Amino acid sequence: MTFKRARPVRHEPGDIPRHIAIIMDGNGRWAKKRGLPRTAGHAAGAETFRRIATYCKDIGVEYLTVYAFSTENWKRPADEVNLILDLLDKYLREAIEKMERDDVRLRIFGDTSALSDRMRALIGNTDEISRRTGGMQVNVCVNYGGRAEIMRAAALYAAERAEGGGEELTEERFSGYMFSSGMPDPDLLIRTGGEKRLSNFLLWQAAYSEMYFTDDLWPDFNERALDRAIADYAGRSRRYGGV
Ligand code: FPP
Repeated sequence: MTFKRARPVRHEPGDIPRHIAIIMDGNGRWAKKRGLPRTAGHAAGAETFRRIATYCKDIGVEYLTVYAFSTENWKRPADEVNLILDLLDKYLREAIEKMERDDVRLRIFGDTSALSDRMRALIGNTDEISRRTGGMQVNVCVNYGGRAEIMRAAALYAAERAEGGGEELTEERFSGYMFSSGMPDPDLLIRTGGEKRLSNFLLWQAAYSEMYFTDDLWPDFNERALDRAIADYAGRSRRYGGV
């Protein structure tokens, strides 16, 4: 890591969310404010992602899921799409080198069939390493859409039923057909960049997530900002529809 590791703040043990999900919004505006191309915002955003992932690991978060590229993001100019995919490529290569030593698992959520052969090979590699590492699980959503994920789950279930398998459906069983199969739902969902919407992110899994919105643009988000989000989350009472 090239950045100076921030000293973890002492949160009460029960206050740390097991699973944090983040919509990393505001890269473009961050760049524009500095007279830089949008791509520079994404490059800065990728660094912020590394810092935040490292910090999450240091404070004991078990799962971190980030929205890196949505199914709608293909509509952006080609140079921007290519740059985001290049940043992901770079991150995957780094992960292959370091995840075993750092004790981190990595999963890509989304339709990887649209990605290059090279990137799919890298993902195959990180999947394989993840099967033998433990530690924090990082999920990076790439070519991901929440509705598409639910439809995919329905299709997987229907195919199993058609072959005579597939048990009677419960919410818990249906969760097993999602990319996040076997993982707890996000406790805390953070969106930076000032917008207050889900934008097709983790529609199934976020049913009871606590939402935290901040005007910070993603490249400006840092460890202290995450501490504030966690403190806010820790002060809430989660009732899951009860009283
Ligand atoms: C939203 O900001 C951000 C994205 C669509 C891309 C997020 C990608 C990264 C942080 C880099 C790659 C990630 C990894 C995991 C290496 P925006 O461009 O919509 O910002 P704006 O609303 O200010 O225009």
